[in-house]
Amino acid sequence: MNQDYTIRLETKNDYREAEQLTREAFWNVYRPGCLEHYVLHVLRDDPAFVPELDFVMERDGRLIGHVMYLRSEIHGDDGRVIPIMTFGPISIAPDCKGQGYGIRLLRCSMEAARKLGAGALAITGNIGFYGKSGFVVASTCGIHYFAQPREAEVPYFLIRELEPGFLDGVTGVYRDPEGYFVDEAAAEAFDALFPPREKRKLPGQLV
Ligand SMILES: CC(C)(COP(=O)(O)OP(=O)(O)OC[C@H]1O[C@@H](n2cnc3c(N)ncnc32)[C@H](O)[C@@H]1OP(=O)(O)O)[C@@H](O)C(=O)NCCC(=O)NCCS
Repeated sequence: MNQDYTIRLETKNDYREAEQLTREAFWNVYRPGCLEHYVLHVLRDDPAFVPELDFVMERDGRLIGHVMYLRSEIHGDDGRVIPIMTFGPISIAPDCKGQGYGIRLLRCSMEAARKLGAGALAITGNIGFYGKSGFVVASTCGIHYFAQPREAEVPYFLIRELEPGFLDGVTGVYRDPEGYFVDEAAAEAFDALFPPREKRKLPGQLV
C-alpha cells in the first residue's frame, strides 16, 4: 500500500468528526446501534486517558481512522499492581475497512505507546485482527479477565508485550478501566445528537 494517509494527534477540532467516524465504524457491529462514540466522548476526560496516544488517521482531507489509549493495570497474584495500557475504541471508516489501514494505525500507535514507556497492552478484541500484530490470548500467559472464571480460556482477551520480558513472572487479573463502563441511557441521549440511524439486530452481534 502506498502511504496515502497521515497519522497525527487528535485536536479539539477533530472531536465531532472522530465521534461520527467511531459511530459509523461500530454501528450495528457488536449490538444494535453502538455505544463506542459515547465511550470516546467521555474517555477524553478520564484520568486514565493518554493524550499523547490519541491519534487520528487522515486521508484526502477527512478522518478515516481513530484510536485512543488508556492507562490500565494488572493485579498480580503476588500483590503487585503492574501498570500497562489498553486502547480503543479503534475505528476505521466503513468504506476504508479491509484495506490495511487498521493494522497500520494500530502498529503506529503501538510504537508510540512503546516509546512512551508502556511495557504491555491488553485488549478485548478479535484475535483475527490483533493476532497479526503480536497479541496472544492472555490466559495462556497467566493473565486472566476479571469477568470470566480463572480456569476459562477467554479467546477475546488478548495481551502483547511492548517491552520484551515485561510480563515475565507476572500472573494475575485484569479489569478494563472504569471509564469503559458507560451509562447506556446517557449514551442513548448522546446518540440523539447525531443523524438518526436504524438500529438492527444482526447475526454475530454480541449483545
Ligand atoms: C477492526 C478494524 C479497526 C480493522 O481495521 P481494517 O482497516 O478493517 O483492518 P485491516 O485491513 O488493516 O486488516 C488487517 C488484517 O486483519 C484482518 N481483520 C481485520 N478486521 C478483522 C476482524 N474484525 N476479524 C478478524 N480479522 C480481521 C484482515 O482480514 C487483515 O488480514 P490480512 O492481512 O490477512 O488480509 C476495522 O475493521 C473497524 O473499524 N471495525 C469496526 C470497529 C471495531 O470492531 N473495532 C475494533 C474493536 S476491538
